[in-house]
Amino acid sequence: MLRISALRLLGRRGASRVSLSEDFSLRHYSSGPLGVRGDTRDSRAYFTTPIFYVNAAPHIGHLYSALLADALCRHHRLRVPSDAATGFSTGTDEHGLKIQQAAAAAGLAPSELCDRVSAQFQQLFREADISSTDFIRTTEARHRIAVQHFWRVLKARGLLYKGLYEGWYCASDECFLPEAKVTRQPGPSGDLCPVSLESGHPVSWTKEENYIFRLSQFREPLQDWLRGDPQAITPEPFHHTVLQWLEEELPDLSVSRRSSHLHWGIPVPGDDSQTIYVWLDALVNYLTVIGYPNAEFKSWWPTTSHIIGKDILKFHAIYWPALLLGAGMSPPHRIYVHSHWTVCGQKMSKSLGNVVDPRTCLDRYTVDGFRYFLLRQGVPSWDCDYYDEKVVKLLDSELADALGGLLNRCTANRINPSGIYPAFCTACFPSEPGSAGPSGRAQAEDYALVSAVATLPEQVADHYDNFQIYKALEAVSSCVRQTNGFVQRHAPWKLNWESPVDAPWLGTVLHVALECLRVFGTLLQPVTPSLADRLLSRLGVSSTERSLGELHFLSRFYGHPSPFEGRRLGPETGILFPRLDQSRSWLVKAHKT
Ligand code: MSP
Repeated sequence: MLRISALRLLGRRGASRVSLSEDFSLRHYSSGPLGVRGDTRDSRAYFTTPIFYVNAAPHIGHLYSALLADALCRHHRLRVPSDAATGFSTGTDEHGLKIQQAAAAAGLAPSELCDRVSAQFQQLFREADISSTDFIRTTEARHRIAVQHFWRVLKARGLLYKGLYEGWYCASDECFLPEAKVTRQPGPSGDLCPVSLESGHPVSWTKEENYIFRLSQFREPLQDWLRGDPQAITPEPFHHTVLQWLEEELPDLSVSRRSSHLHWGIPVPGDDSQTIYVWLDALVNYLTVIGYPNAEFKSWWPTTSHIIGKDILKFHAIYWPALLLGAGMSPPHRIYVHSHWTVCGQKMSKSLGNVVDPRTCLDRYTVDGFRYFLLRQGVPSWDCDYYDEKVVKLLDSELADALGGLLNRCTANRINPSGIYPAFCTACFPSEPGSAGPSGRAQAEDYALVSAVATLPEQVADHYDNFQIYKALEAVSSCVRQTNGFVQRHAPWKLNWESPVDAPWLGTVLHVALECLRVFGTLLQPVTPSLADRLLSRLGVSSTERSLGELHFLSRFYGHPSPFEGRRLGPETGILFPRLDQSRSWLVKAHKT
């Protein structure tokens, strides 16, 4: 953990300990995960991505953060399909020394750099189908109002004091570092330069009078929060890491810079000689978006889930909850943490020239294809490696061959000439395996398939709650394979619609396979929205029949009527997902390099 043990705080110390009990209530975060299976318990949810620095163009790591949040949010909408129930914010982090320096290096005014790069993020997210309901820029007036109000609240509650800060500051990471986290490396001129041990970015010695936040007072409340809600930070290893950090010293935090040094930021209210620390400024974006300081924000806070990368865990899991507690609010409902993407085994960096441009990937693999790849392969608990061949292999096998092939097999004119959802025959596939009469055709594996697909939505919901979207997709993919096995086993192409013996079973095989496809299409909506839309439209599923509450898988098998039986399929719209075969010119080039 990065601690500011190098700080020498020579300020008005020892102000009385803040009482938190009146507004800090366990009630807010002791509830379980958001309602599953369409129940509307705790139905409001607000998801956030980190706001992205505008010093450089977006890369696939940024897109990954946004996609995770988008998939969680879209899955919540499947559970609670009311527009008013889900908020989803993203945006750009535009203040601070890092941006001030990047603009100077590019010969631009900071605002010009911000406009340019913020627009790139907005365009990328539009193209990638990120369904955010707000895009915040920290240079907006609404945000300045929120940050300054938040500051005044902290001040009024006796949590800010003036003191002398002396220590290392890393402008690239916008954070303070204790001596133990600083090392020396040869710089461009060959001289040894101090750098951050963790990020390798240069650090510089800072000595100035700043405002200081009484972070040290929050160690116990933070521990109580985390011990009282073991899922507050998910996956678990990150929860554990934060609790370990809280065992160490928790020094007070410097929360402003001299304006002569940092002018690109929000001035401290009532003291223009100081600019508010960019992390305090940035974190408050989560409140700005929901209307803070107007009371309306209370209907969204704290039903909030922050999605963040592991590099910014300390800011979100220690500083932010402490600031919130200090301002009389509860910590967020969940902090979902993900690891990073590397490229061919290396950290992505401009200097290594290996930054993967997400827009090129969306062009090559399609929006749905690339979304599927990142979410299927990205495992939040550990770093994942990116290379092109991996994308092609995954998409060809799971989307083009398995899923696309299955749809084609069940809807192709030669096998389903009437173009309808055929009838399910209960005599061919009775709900009790032992009760099959002479026309019973279903085998043990077929019952296993029905049972696997019937429990799939719940399994998927559990994986979403545990922030394991890759496992949700793995479970869907495994059911797709099982369904292909079912179709292969019963080879409907060998059965004859004209035969009174074959026809009911042929219809049943197709009905079951189409029902499975309907479940897959519904569950894939959060990850591959447009592919899922095409799939469901091809099955004739209307837009009001696509939520989890409307799923009712294979109702005929369970003795209920099916609204789909006999329904006309939607129009044929071509291949669901085209194979990305090896002949593509860019792939050949990638193989050679
Ligand atoms: N501006 C801060 C966040 C402030 S939130 C109040 C910031 N910005 S960032 O642009 O550097 O990073 C934004 C997100 O991208 C973080 O969640 C970070 O972890 C993520 N990623 C940056 N590089 C990444 C990879 N290589 N792989 C996956 N995600 C990565 O931090």
